Amino acid sequence: MSVPQHVAIIMDGNGRWAERRGQVRTVGHRRGVEAVREAVKAAGELGVQYLTLFAFSSENWRRPPQEVSDLMGLLKFFVRRDLAELHQENIRVRVIGDRDSLKPDILSLLTEAEELTKANTALQLIIAFNYGGRDDIVRAARKLAARAASGDLDADGISEADISDSLDTAGIPDPDLLIRTSGEQRISNFLLWQAAYAEFVFLPCLWPDFGRGAFEEALHIYQCRDRRFGKTTSQDLALGT
Ligand code: IPE
Ligand code: IPE
Ligand code: MG
Repeated sequence: MSVPQHVAIIMDGNGRWAERRGQVRTVGHRRGVEAVREAVKAAGELGVQYLTLFAFSSENWRRPPQEVSDLMGLLKFFVRRDLAELHQENIRVRVIGDRDSLKPDILSLLTEAEELTKANTALQLIIAFNYGGRDDIVRAARKLAARAASGDLDADGISEADISDSLDTAGIPDPDLLIRTSGEQRISNFLLWQAAYAEFVFLPCLWPDFGRGAFEEALHIYQCRDRRFGKTTSQDLALGT
């Protein structure tokens, strides 16, 4: 059975994980970073080529300032601690999201991670940080509008490929499988354009409890799905696709 080329994950439930243990939410976020390590390892071992992790949404700024600052701190902690190892594992790190409102120290760490690993050829780890699907589309629309205004592009000829190529995920295939932990069944402004034909798998486990077992379970559910892309199954069989 086929392994999805690109898996995207909404890593949800850190706060509840901590609250259930009578701990502050940050404790859950810290455990969440360890689950990220597990997920990256499992993705590589299971043959996934692109792994996108939703780490901070453009709406997460609405959380209390202390929590926002803890999440920023944890991203820095993760990059500082794990970058060398990711590089050693031949993993390429890419970051999607709006960089303009990030503090210079975070921005330079993210850029450093991308630069160091840009020639790596194993798993591609895409970190969605300060990412919002609508924001991604808005920024793409601005780029295309600017090109049209400068005469570089014919507005009437704008294609789906032009839009895809203007998104943060340019050059990255669309996700095949989108996993969300914590039992919530919504997309929360994640890869809105890119997830057009993704299979959604909602797992009840909270993100800090995610590991190889949960990853395998999601892949198994994915493998039992029939992806039709608008066609019928019999058509697929007849066309041999
Ligand atoms: C996911 O866990 C981490 C981020 C959104 C950054 P949450 O912090 O959303 O945890 P819950 O959903 O409140 O349990
Ligand atoms: C989505 O989770 C964002 C990330 C996992 C980074 P949220 O916890 O922010 O989503 P909502 O608010 O429950 O929709
Ligand atoms: Mg949440």
